Amino acid sequence: MVDYAFTDLVGDENVFFAEYFNKKPMLRKKAVPGDPRDILSLRKLDRLVNLEVVRPPYIKVNLKGTGVPEQGYTRNVVIQGQTVTDVVDPEKIYELFRAGATVTWCSLNQIVPELRDFTRLISDRMAVRTDSVAFLTPTGKKGYPPHHDPVDLFIVQLEGTKHWKLWNPPAERLSDAAQYTLEGLGEPEIEVSLEPGDVLYLPYGTPHAAAAEGKASLHLSIMMRPRMWKDLLQQTFEELVADAEEFNEYPYIGELRDATVESVFKEKVRALVARLESVEAAGELDRLAELGRHMDGSSRGSAFEAIANLDGLGPDDLLRRGKAPLTFGQDENGRTELTVNGHKIAVPTPIVETLAALGPDASIAASDVFPGVEALRSTKAAQGLTRLGVFELASAG
Ligand SMILES: [Fe+2]
Repeated sequence: MVDYAFTDLVGDENVFFAEYFNKKPMLRKKAVPGDPRDILSLRKLDRLVNLEVVRPPYIKVNLKGTGVPEQGYTRNVVIQGQTVTDVVDPEKIYELFRAGATVTWCSLNQIVPELRDFTRLISDRMAVRTDSVAFLTPTGKKGYPPHHDPVDLFIVQLEGTKHWKLWNPPAERLSDAAQYTLEGLGEPEIEVSLEPGDVLYLPYGTPHAAAAEGKASLHLSIMMRPRMWKDLLQQTFEELVADAEEFNEYPYIGELRDATVESVFKEKVRALVARLESVEAAGELDRLAELGRHMDGSSRGSAFEAIANLDGLGPDDLLRRGKAPLTFGQDENGRTELTVNGHKIAVPTPIVETLAALGPDASIAASDVFPGVEALRSTKAAQGLTRLGVFELASAG
């Protein structure tokens, strides 16, 4: 399995951002290294369709331009005494596919861990929510008429071929879905028979049309939901007012309101503007980017493994401060209250002093966490605190 990188999709990042991103469609032939079926294959989809856990809305079937009702390809299964009503019936799906239906797996990054790793490359770099949809189209299937979508797309051809026509986005970008006529669009900017390993990038609003060719086609469509300035500003606004006491009063604004309500309203607007102006741009943009990277469909964790690994923590193992914020209380009889991840614990004050002195990038041996006691006792204390998230292993990613 190849370790994919963001550049496998976009090529030279400087060129991508200067010439294509948010501007015009891009085609990269043979962009994906290795066998593109390592990302997702028909074989994997055969296995997935047989897994009882894959249910609508994660799978959809479209026949002759209309969606097939779920009852047409699902059945009941009893799991641990409980009836699950919409489990996919593989034989029905196969029958529909034979009849010419397109099968779509939605948000596949929520089901297949390897795909999540793949789409995370994009969420991380672009600081956006990503969603991946796999389209399986049978041979010679007539495609969709030209249209555009309100999201940026990366198309990765995985098996078979598909014929694409792409036009440059119109000068006035329409974020809502729209339909076009081939006559109105004229000559396409890109016309290509997409082969396994080829990648297309479509900025939102790019008119496109696609149709399968001589073989069944499997492609992955990775959607990036752009956050417009209005979305970002809204997130900034929410953060600013979240803890602002001055916006928590409840005014009466109905027809019997007092004239003073208007001046109070203006005061509040001025207070809000002052808060907005005090926002430090670089820090806030970083915060917004982090929010974008951690939306549904891209979270990752390794706490089970990390916690289990702690059982073998030795005195020489290096620790650093965990990511959870810490709150220190007052010293009382040699112990200081520490709040972490909602836990309140009384910790020997020498440990708290060690913690307070430890810089964000510094690390410390487990045996030194509790100064003045023997190494084994310090290591035990470090182990307990690491389990709670106060420390983390310095070698951990
Ligand atoms: Fe589309």
